[in-house]
Amino acid sequence: MSSDLPDTVIVTGAASGIGLAIARHLVGSSVTVAGIDVDADGLARACDALGPPFHPFAGDLCDPAAAERLVAAAWDACGPISGLVNAAGIYPVTPLFDMAVAEWDAVLNLNLRAPFLMVQALGRRMADAGIGGSIVNIGSSASTLARPGIAHYGASKAGFSQLTRNLAIELAPLSIRVNAVAPGLIGTERVMAHAEGAGQAEHAAKVARIPLGRAGRPEELVDLVAYLLSQRASYVTGSILFVDGGLTLGIPNY
Ligand SMILES: NC(=O)c1ccc[n+]([C@@H]2O[C@H](COP(=O)([O-])OP(=O)(O)OC[C@H]3O[C@@H](n4cnc5c(N)ncnc54)[C@H](O)[C@@H]3O)[C@@H](O)[C@H]2O)c1
Repeated sequence: MSSDLPDTVIVTGAASGIGLAIARHLVGSSVTVAGIDVDADGLARACDALGPPFHPFAGDLCDPAAAERLVAAAWDACGPISGLVNAAGIYPVTPLFDMAVAEWDAVLNLNLRAPFLMVQALGRRMADAGIGGSIVNIGSSASTLARPGIAHYGASKAGFSQLTRNLAIELAPLSIRVNAVAPGLIGTERVMAHAEGAGQAEHAAKVARIPLGRAGRPEELVDLVAYLLSQRASYVTGSILFVDGGLTLGIPNY
């Protein structure tokens, strides 16, 4: 067990991409990880790769009953849990006039409502156990940078930023800190599959706008997430930290 990290952390979206990278980093730091994801096969692969400190909990976080059920199962299996990373998210791109209500709802339900329900379910247990805690929300540069096709995603991530701040102020008296890490373009498997397929031109245009001139790697986020989870960040709450190669600074060239 690491001295300044929580003994056990729930990571949502742990089957792939950023969530998986965070889970891998935490397990490497001797933290027990309860990984939640809708992708049961991906969770099984994560389990094989990360070994016994990784506990899989499969479930669909768009289901409003899922957070309570999955948190209860994780708490029962792994003991008191004082860390949470909300990383599960989807980012479909659809022009405004083609955007169906079902797609809007799916994005808002997973990206915004599910983290709220996760914090309610786990925060209540942290409060009852009197153990305090640290919550890290994986936001997005899309919380401030608008672009066509992501009306639902941009709204969900902007809401997620303000949810982070509201949770931080309400949970502070319980010694539960809440912060967000807002990535820019991160070359996860899903992003790179798109970049190397139909999304080649779109990806190149995005990279051209990044002052550091490239997409980030999931591994470039994990230290910051671990820091925020840890006691080293004991006076940090309500912060939204961009890890975006400067993308949200402005226009890098003309
Ligand atoms: N990759 C990027 O460039 C980027 C940039 C900014 C923000 N983000 C954010 O980072 C987070 C992770 O993104 P990623 O790129 O790693 O994506 P990803 O698709 O690789 O990982 C997301 C995970 O969420 C899981 N998931 C999807 N729907 C779910 C549901 N209903 N219930 C439970 N789990 C579900 C998926 O199975 C997957 O394992 C998201 O919140 C995303 O908005 C990503």
